Amino acid sequence: MKTIKLATLTAALVATGLAHAADKAAPRPDPKIQALVAKYIEASFLPGEGQDLSRLKQDETLQACNLYRDNPPEKIAAEINAREKATIKYPADGKLMGDWKNGEKLFAAGFGMRIGRIEPDKPERQKGGNGGNCYACHGADPKEVAFGTIGPSLMHYGKLRGAGEDIVKYTYEKIYNPQAYSACSQMPRIGYHGILRPEQIADIVAYLVSPESPVNK
Ligand code: HEC
Repeated sequence: MKTIKLATLTAALVATGLAHAADKAAPRPDPKIQALVAKYIEASFLPGEGQDLSRLKQDETLQACNLYRDNPPEKIAAEINAREKATIKYPADGKLMGDWKNGEKLFAAGFGMRIGRIEPDKPERQKGGNGGNCYACHGADPKEVAFGTIGPSLMHYGKLRGAGEDIVKYTYEKIYNPQAYSACSQMPRIGYHGILRPEQIADIVAYLVSPESPVNK
């Protein structure tokens, strides 16, 4: 990107930000500026081996969140929640509590989806072989000391909330598509994007909720 273009873009963004500072409900930045930003971002990626540029296409929900800087008016937030909730699929056997031991592995596995690669993936890591990368943002097992704090701590999750049907269902749906509950959540839409399969999400639910799980010791 040429410096002059970046300077023009920055000036335009600052001006739009100021113009809308007084009006909280107005879309920010201006949709025209938004389109310009998208154009520059897209131009900065060179198509090449292993590049999945389809991920640059923003769906309706992402566009709305960007437009309102993750703080949409109530009506639009409700529309996002409803649209995202409608995407949720459940395991074929209907069981939302799977095997916590497998859930423990998936929760910790840092290998997720990414753009580009250094060498071809091992078969077990190809599509469907992703981890949840949950420790990047959440604490869970009290014995684990390395974790990110973008998301709330999930330590003693089941101990604090119980393992009732409503908690199990909420936890499953929240992991499958966090934006069904929190319109512009920073948490990835794990099931919606096919990062984990429904059965794998059910295993993580068991890891968080089950009294036998180390999360609740
Ligand atoms: C990029 C950071 C990030 C990653 C990765 C992430 N989360 Fe989250 N998560 C968040 C944030 C931020 C919140 C709080 C906002 C919200 O509720 O959406 C959250 C909320 C949650 C909640 C709801 C907590 C509550 O108190 O109700 C659960 C459960 C959860 N995450 C589980 C997971 C699991 C399981 C994974 C891995 C499969 C995961 N998260 C991966 C950021 C993340």
